[in-house]
Amino acid sequence: MKYTVLFLRKASAIQLIALGALKPQRARIPPLAESCLELPNLETHFSRMIFVTTLLMVSLNVLSVGRVRGKAISKRGAAYNDISNVLPLSKAGTVSWAYNWAVTEPNELPPGVEFVPMLWGTASFDGWQESVESTLSGGSEYILGFNEPDMSSQASLSPSVAANYYREYITPFQGKAKLVSPAVTSSTSPGMGLGWLHEFMGACSSCSISGVAVHWYGDSADSFKGFIYEVIIFARSYGLSEVWITEFALDADMNGVADDEATEAFIHDVTPWLDSQSIVTRYSYFMCAERYLLTGGVLNTAGKAYVSLSGSSDSVGSTSSSVSCNGLHSVEVQ
Ligand code: BGC
Repeated sequence: MKYTVLFLRKASAIQLIALGALKPQRARIPPLAESCLELPNLETHFSRMIFVTTLLMVSLNVLSVGRVRGKAISKRGAAYNDISNVLPLSKAGTVSWAYNWAVTEPNELPPGVEFVPMLWGTASFDGWQESVESTLSGGSEYILGFNEPDMSSQASLSPSVAANYYREYITPFQGKAKLVSPAVTSSTSPGMGLGWLHEFMGACSSCSISGVAVHWYGDSADSFKGFIYEVIIFARSYGLSEVWITEFALDADMNGVADDEATEAFIHDVTPWLDSQSIVTRYSYFMCAERYLLTGGVLNTAGKAYVSLSGSSDSVGSTSSSVSCNGLHSVEVQ
């Protein structure tokens, strides 16, 4: 009963009772990956009931996972510096990608986690072409642009200079990868945030960018959603098909989680909401590190909230799914 044990851990008794009361024919039970599934010996009516309940839970869990252009993927990512922190996060099966603000990751990420390279800024130009070629040949499908070019302490570039560099260094990889814009801050000061990005997009209209990336730090879930709505409108106005949020957290948590309960509530509020926005294709909380999502190398309250699929998502329509041996979920949208 490997799977029963695995997934029962996630459920409260109340959920189980509620799910058990559902009629099996009303739910779409996903096919399980035969290669790694050990089918249990269902001898008793009780164990059959538990097995069906488990499948229903898997099915509901999977329905909460977002979609990206019909690919098997969840939207959630790990923004990390130390790769050893990614496994505790990815083990839950809801993290599908990761980045480290750099172009390469010399070590292997856990199975099922795609590494996404970034051209951080001018300091990363040396050896960029060879490094990014090698990262793409390892299976990365995207390239992220400069990190906070609108901040003097980060990539610090004007929109027109950034556009020239983007065209020179990133655009040549169109066709080999999908290209994401520089990631701007959520600042509303003149020349920063979306203001910076408007100018950049004007100067980079021939750069083959298909997605926009932003960061957000603020004080509430509502303010976060308000900003992301603006970004969605921005993306649509430029015909961009994807919105990425590559850093986000409450202001109070910029140097590590300050208040477990407030952070947990924030994450539980915004992650299902992000999953329900179809144009939001990827997001990564800041960050997958000690004092943020981990304490002592294991998931803390915030980390558990980030990998959980609690909350609701009504965005996913026709979905089929599979479950792999290590509990990783994947979703294929037809
Ligand atoms: C910086 C990165 C750094 C990361 C995590 C980002 O804001 O630009 O260089 O690795 O924060 O500390």
